[in-house]
Amino acid sequence: MTSLPDGCCDLIYADPPFGTNRTHAGSGGTMPDTWAGGLERFLAFLLPRLEQMHRLLSSRGTLHVHLDWHAVHHVKVALDGLFGADNFLNEIIWSYRTGGCSRRWFARKHDTILVYARHAGRHTFQPQRGGAFRTDGLKTDASGRPYKNTTRGRLYFHAEGPLLTDVWEIPFLSTVSRERTGYPAQKPEKLLERIILAWSRPGDLVADFFCGSGTTAVVAARTGRRWLACDISARAVRIARRRLARLGPGDATDAAEPPRATGSTGRA
Ligand SMILES: C[S@@+](CC[C@H](N)C(=O)[O-])C[C@H]1O[C@@H](n2cnc3c(N)ncnc32)[C@H](O)[C@@H]1O
Repeated sequence: MTSLPDGCCDLIYADPPFGTNRTHAGSGGTMPDTWAGGLERFLAFLLPRLEQMHRLLSSRGTLHVHLDWHAVHHVKVALDGLFGADNFLNEIIWSYRTGGCSRRWFARKHDTILVYARHAGRHTFQPQRGGAFRTDGLKTDASGRPYKNTTRGRLYFHAEGPLLTDVWEIPFLSTVSRERTGYPAQKPEKLLERIILAWSRPGDLVADFFCGSGTTAVVAARTGRRWLACDISARAVRIARRRLARLGPGDATDAAEPPRATGSTGRA
């Protein structure tokens, strides 16, 4: 990050270790998240990297920091200081169901993604739609558009569903998912798709400095964004490269320019 110029990234997604003090295992290897010195040591690792990310954001850029209950509240306070609380845009709750449920407290089944703009108001954002309307008794017309009958005729609803809120129900990758690489803490492409489509434009530079199995780069390439990805783990980079190499030209869905999985703007 220190070698990159100010303002070069339009969207940065950061999915670092969460400060769990555990080593996470998957069929594709392990991912250490242990901190002698606890939370203080974890924050001393993460905060200077978030400062670099702040420097790297373009004036319409946004940072997305993915964490959970272990450290997110501490990081929120630090990011309010770094960006200015006025540049805080969203606390996205990613809700999922996995594994077992505790008998001692409500099962902890969500992660949090903090979203900050370099300059709120100048930032890129396209509202997204999805899911089902909560209105009872909706019908659909011959072209599939939902509506309800009112005393004044048909009231039509948007065919792509309601505007999304900051609570996202997206399934965790199942053990039999075709996306699954076996890399610990791999995130679903659907999650990154929502972030990238909402907060960047085709041709923008999307960066992920904790790229793991390469989910961000894969979705960025598929949606016509340029990408930049790195990871401290050589195994992660190998998996990410393999995933990116499998993308074909037909995989670009929203492209203003052809995706470059291994070209000069896409580097893992
Ligand atoms: C939660 S995982 C990212 C998972 C990724 N989003 C995916 O979908 O596969 C966190 C990653 O941060 C990496 N990491 C930890 N410390 C790092 C550092 N100092 N620099 C770069 N990457 C680091 C780990 O190797 C791990 O791959």
